[in-house]
Amino acid sequence: MTLALDDFRLHPAALGPAEQQALVTAVLAAVTEVPLRHSQTPGGRRMSVAMSNLGPLGWVTDGRGYRYQSTDPLTGRPWPPMPPIVAALWPRFTGRADAADACLVNLYRDGAKMGLHQDRDEADLTAPVVSVSLGDTAVFRIGGASRRDPTRTVRLSSGDVCVLDGAARLAFHGVDRVLAGSSRLIPGGGRLNLTLRRAGQAP
Ligand code: SIN
Ligand code: FE2
Repeated sequence: MTLALDDFRLHPAALGPAEQQALVTAVLAAVTEVPLRHSQTPGGRRMSVAMSNLGPLGWVTDGRGYRYQSTDPLTGRPWPPMPPIVAALWPRFTGRADAADACLVNLYRDGAKMGLHQDRDEADLTAPVVSVSLGDTAVFRIGGASRRDPTRTVRLSSGDVCVLDGAARLAFHGVDRVLAGSSRLIPGGGRLNLTLRRAGQAP
């Protein structure tokens, strides 16, 4: 079933248990090179979500602002390649012939949440964002293109995939909370979210 709400496309239970497990294993193995970390916001606050990146470009935040870069500021190394099982989600859920060049990995534990924001650091804001939920259920909040627009909440469970496209591409969104213990998928507990994007200039 696909729920279409203003170009916010939710595919509940799009990924079965074996695929969820394979994604978690592949992603956690890949980020051992570029450990998940609690970055600082430009305003100097520590993010409650631990993050890292896979693929040619990675989203980073620090005192200098938000941006994409090809190396990890923590290790100085390039971000590891996206495992093929991750990269394959892009054509599958967007129907596009191009490839994602960035996969942000977010780990929510210990009451972590994410404030309402827009994804707008990408060079091409017309390419969609694919978001994959693994592990504990999230109470995800989504509104419109203005911060003042009304919002609604949607529960995102393990294996759900959502696509922000068209009018929803610049929708404000965030994670109000994560239902701790609602899944046993992630070793050590929590929620792993993958967002695949096209961050750089089209070739
Ligand atoms: C994000 O907006 O980067 C993450 C959204 C989510 O965790 O579902
Ligand atoms: Fe986002």
